Amino acid sequence: MDAVISGTGVFIPEQKISNRELVESYNAFVDVFNSENRNQIEEGKLDPLEYSTEEFVKKASGIENRYVLDKEGILDPHRMRPSLEERTNEEPSIQADIAVNACKKAIKNAGKSIEDIDSIICACSNLQRAYPAIAIEIQELLGVTGFAYDMNVACSSSTFAIQNAVNDIKSGLSDCVLVVNPEICSGHLNFKDRDGHFIFGDVCTAVVLEKKESSSQGFKILSTKLKTVFSNNIRNNFGFLNKAENADSNAPDKLFIQEGRRVFKQVIPMVSSLIEEQISNNNLSIENISRLWLHQANLSMNMHIAKKLLGREPNEIEVPIVLNEFANTSSAGSIIAFHRYNQDLQKGDIGVICSFGAGYSAGSVLVEKL
Ligand code: COA
Repeated sequence: MDAVISGTGVFIPEQKISNRELVESYNAFVDVFNSENRNQIEEGKLDPLEYSTEEFVKKASGIENRYVLDKEGILDPHRMRPSLEERTNEEPSIQADIAVNACKKAIKNAGKSIEDIDSIICACSNLQRAYPAIAIEIQELLGVTGFAYDMNVACSSSTFAIQNAVNDIKSGLSDCVLVVNPEICSGHLNFKDRDGHFIFGDVCTAVVLEKKESSSQGFKILSTKLKTVFSNNIRNNFGFLNKAENADSNAPDKLFIQEGRRVFKQVIPMVSSLIEEQISNNNLSIENISRLWLHQANLSMNMHIAKKLLGREPNEIEVPIVLNEFANTSSAGSIIAFHRYNQDLQKGDIGVICSFGAGYSAGSVLVEKL
């Protein structure tokens, strides 16, 4: 039984922050910090914080803008984190809310109705609570019967969930699966950290997968390939044992931390060899691949991977980039790229959706246009 991706949908927050706005607020925070700690800095007990620059952010990452759920809290130099209202148990949670928006768009895009959906996988880097599963809340809000569950493989959550959906379709467990990635990355980004304050944005993507017999549109899944190798170079120690451990909940390690340079060097070969092996295992060569919808974390990282695969400089059509507009949206990035840049492909064209990140983890999905 073949599985196809028959529809996609994206929820984009209304508020956005340019590099200029972000850097201005960071630098205002630096002024506040350095003035509040003047004595310690003068006594040599504390290093003063340095300004961030727009030039560095653009050059090091390719990011120009990010969408966020709350701009005001992030840009307030005395707060430096989003300001989101806590909701009651009777209200939809924030993650379920944005997920429902993206799911409805994906269902419409697939030409399906709610009754067609058998199961939902909510897959993302951070879940806003332990339980009940956000996926089951999404199921309730959409009115889907069947089953739903959450999973987390950080930036690779989307492709690992697609792998699960494909398995469910092939085994006959579900005929039609919704995979949804509500990535509220502003909630785990340290906006006080000069090395990374610009990295993330918020978004939610959704993908409808179903058995090929029930859809005449979209992309057939030719193969999925997953790889994980343990690394501490991208880490977040926030968790349910923090209180039991008397851990400092305000310590920087309770938010996203990375060794960006190491990640860059170690993940590029891991991802390029994964895609290379997948292409050759399917008796294809790189010349057969029309598009690489890669994880959207860093522009030069994507260009390195594409160049390694193609053996030449890639062009912007072959390797679509959305991180300039969205920043890194964790597992949603490659799905946004796929959603935006697949309409021009012809029947029989083949492409690769590949996400990668913390774990390390990498998931690659080889697809063929129907
Ligand atoms: N503004 C100005 N200068 C800055 C700065 C900022 N905001 N942040 C760091 N710098 C400076 C550093 O102090 C350093 O200066 P030095 O050379 O004088 O010591 C210099 O810029 C280079 O810093 P570095 O951290 O080595 O930058 P980089 O070129 O490696 O870029 C990343 C940083 C994070 C953008 C990049 O490494 C990256 O994106 N890596 C991949 C990350 C990734 O994919 N992660 C997956 C997450 S899911």
